[in-house]
Amino acid sequence: MKSFVFYNPTKLIFGKDQVKTLPDHLPAGTKNVLLVYGGGSIKKNGVYDDVMEQLNNEGAAVTELSGVEPNPKLTTVREGVELCREHDIDFILAVGGGSVIDAVKTIAAAAKYEGDAWDLVTRKAAPVDALPFGTVLTMAATASEMNAGSVITNWETNEKYGWGHPPYTNPKFSILDPQNTVTVPKDQTVYGIVDMMTHLMEQYFHEETQSPVQDEMIEGVMRAVKDTAPKLLEDLSSYEHRETIMYAGTLALNGMMQMGYKGDWASHNIEHAVSAVYDIPHAGGLAILFPNWMEYNIDVQTKRFARLGEKVFGIETEGKTDKEVGLEGIKALRKFWSSLGAPETLADYDISDEKFDTIVDRAMKRGPFGNFSELQENDVYRVLELSK
Ligand code: NZQ
Ligand code: ZN
Repeated sequence: MKSFVFYNPTKLIFGKDQVKTLPDHLPAGTKNVLLVYGGGSIKKNGVYDDVMEQLNNEGAAVTELSGVEPNPKLTTVREGVELCREHDIDFILAVGGGSVIDAVKTIAAAAKYEGDAWDLVTRKAAPVDALPFGTVLTMAATASEMNAGSVITNWETNEKYGWGHPPYTNPKFSILDPQNTVTVPKDQTVYGIVDMMTHLMEQYFHEETQSPVQDEMIEGVMRAVKDTAPKLLEDLSSYEHRETIMYAGTLALNGMMQMGYKGDWASHNIEHAVSAVYDIPHAGGLAILFPNWMEYNIDVQTKRFARLGEKVFGIETEGKTDKEVGLEGIKALRKFWSSLGAPETLADYDISDEKFDTIVDRAMKRGPFGNFSELQENDVYRVLELSK
């Protein structure tokens, strides 16, 4: 393993009705809260009322920023920054999924930065301060509730980048009540499952040879998600299955699985470029791209692919080469995601090769990428071709 420092300052509050404890976690003296949410799901399922009740009990003045889009826009972040300044905001509360939380992270840092929020996203400038913020998670997927990452899209330039700067972009706390996720529709539930599985696999494909604990942890979480996903899709209102998936989603990308090595993350980079050009759901893109990235790299440390096939998908190894087992594992992954209803090809989103050059250009903006297998321009193009 490589030397590492693990630091995660987010207080995690997990369980039924935990929104009631919100006042306990607000910083002392909180007066002016910016409440940020998406397109209205929290008004339909009652989470908005539950949160407002607690904020009102605290006597906080609440300013609202609603309508944060899936794949949050830079223009919305700028609106949030204006509201913070106008209303002398001292705490921000994100209530929603990864998009709302990501928007809040950049708003929190940009509110304390004199220049434009895009400077932070593009890493032209680094934050030296931020407004404190917390989250009430309503959808299991990204783990944004317990990491420092924020992914923002600039539609003027068709660029979508992830950035983050601990501790400024780490939530102070996150409240996770699985009950608040029972209204997540089937398609978004599938995207969440694909996203967390992909996060686990992005980390599983690394260059270290000495990682038995990490390997077992990732394989264990993968198997639990794989076993639970079909049951949850059979009964979207099941508290138990929502609970398992919610816990898995947070663990998958809160830093616990990636100690002592770097993950790969190339597929995420390509997906961000695809959804910067076509506004598609993040994990819809991943479901298409990730198996093709795997197949494209099957000859890079073939043993790693074989191990995933065997340990997670139960592929029989007797009398087979590692490559055969690895390829069978990839096939099993495709079959599994298809059985959940995830998209399979870019054509499912009406995406042809017309704008592949633009996608490749956006993906390459920060140079070659991928830690397990470094991708150059032509490699990215090939993965897109395989995904048509
Ligand atoms: O906007 P509302 O009306 O709330 O509806 C949302 C939205 O349409 C809906 N939803 C959320 N909770 C619900 C619900 N509907 C009914 N009941 C509920 N309880 O779900 C839709 C999708 O929400 P969104 O927040 O966009 O989904 P997700 O959590 O998958 O976030 C996706 C964003 O996160 C970024 C992605 O790129 C994408 O922009 N990512 C962030 C990461 C991070 N910060 O670490 C890592 C990820 O790899 C990812 O890149
Ligand atoms: Zn993701």
